[in-house]
Amino acid sequence: MTSQISQATKKRILSGAKPTADSLHLGNYIGAVRNWVDMQAEYDAVFFIPDLHAITVDFDPAELAKRTRIVAAQYIAAGIDPDKSIFFVQSHVPEHAQLAWALNCITGFGEASRMTQFKDKTQKSGADAATLGLFAYPTLMAADILLYQTDLVPVGEDQRQHLELTRNLAQRFNTRFGHTFTVPEATIVKESAKIYDLQNPSAKMSKTGESPNGAIQLLEDPKVAAKRIKSAVTDAGTEIRFDAEEKPGISNLLTIYSSLTGKTIPELETEYQGKMYGHLKVDLAEVMVEFVTPLRDRTNELMSDPAELDRLLAHGAERAREIASVTLAQVYERMGFLPSLSLAGVR
Ligand code: TYM
Repeated sequence: MTSQISQATKKRILSGAKPTADSLHLGNYIGAVRNWVDMQAEYDAVFFIPDLHAITVDFDPAELAKRTRIVAAQYIAAGIDPDKSIFFVQSHVPEHAQLAWALNCITGFGEASRMTQFKDKTQKSGADAATLGLFAYPTLMAADILLYQTDLVPVGEDQRQHLELTRNLAQRFNTRFGHTFTVPEATIVKESAKIYDLQNPSAKMSKTGESPNGAIQLLEDPKVAAKRIKSAVTDAGTEIRFDAEEKPGISNLLTIYSSLTGKTIPELETEYQGKMYGHLKVDLAEVMVEFVTPLRDRTNELMSDPAELDRLLAHGAERAREIASVTLAQVYERMGFLPSLSLAGVR
């Protein structure tokens, strides 16, 4: 099949968050999802739930489908509009796994071995205990992005290296087999690119942090979220000022505060001049309750109608396949596979 990708006038963005927990956390929201919502009006947007990536680490089959629906509901509750944006589950679009295999075969073993996320994730148990799936995580991610001729990928700082690999693979494929892929760029909003763990502000907030108090889960009881803010680790001294080196704890709280209220960090520094850390925490706890409560209510409301969520996701998967199948067909043709007449029929 030689059909060309239709050139949309708007640039395309694409991103996703893994369904590996019972809720997205505040870092996912501030570092990524919030920016997606802001960008969806201006861009041709594709948001998906990378469930194939979720099985690269230990997982419970009894939980996966539920968590996938939760993330879907959280996207919508946060403001993703399935009418405006293409919105689907990765495993519903088989082209992701198919393109990933093709990309695996142009990726160097050494190149994949240099991925710091793989190294971090295997640090404790050793690379031998990891699966091939975890090793190939970045090439599946590259497939997610390249299938849709994506221009921009809004993510947090921790995804930068995966984006670099994606760019390299796109360029390598284009050089070797003829121009096929748009070479994407990462969009990383500097101020909110990394939200830190509330108990250990030298580590990023994550699903697998050491203390449950380190992360705010967007679906948890707002009172618990407030408590976690109030018990956040702060720094020596008393002055409320942004200084990531000297005051990582307070700086993290200022970043969160600024992200949720739209007040700039200098405005907050002025507002809290001469006040104690405790004042900042009490106010931020209140901001957190106001932010989390409607998001949680809306998510629960959406979760109460799983059939409607599944319908939206099925419609999104159809729209996604229309684009993904064209790209995959070009890839197969350029790599020299014998065309499959039966496959051509369903494409
Ligand atoms: P995931 O599920 O780990 O995280 C989803 C998004 O949240 C961002 N993020 C953070 N941002 C700021 N501070 C934090 N503490 C923080 N923790 C997480 C992540 O940078 C991410 O943008 N590999 C991706 C999922 C993925 C993907 C893709 C993304 C699969 N295929 C294609 C973009 C394009 C991931 O693990 O996200």
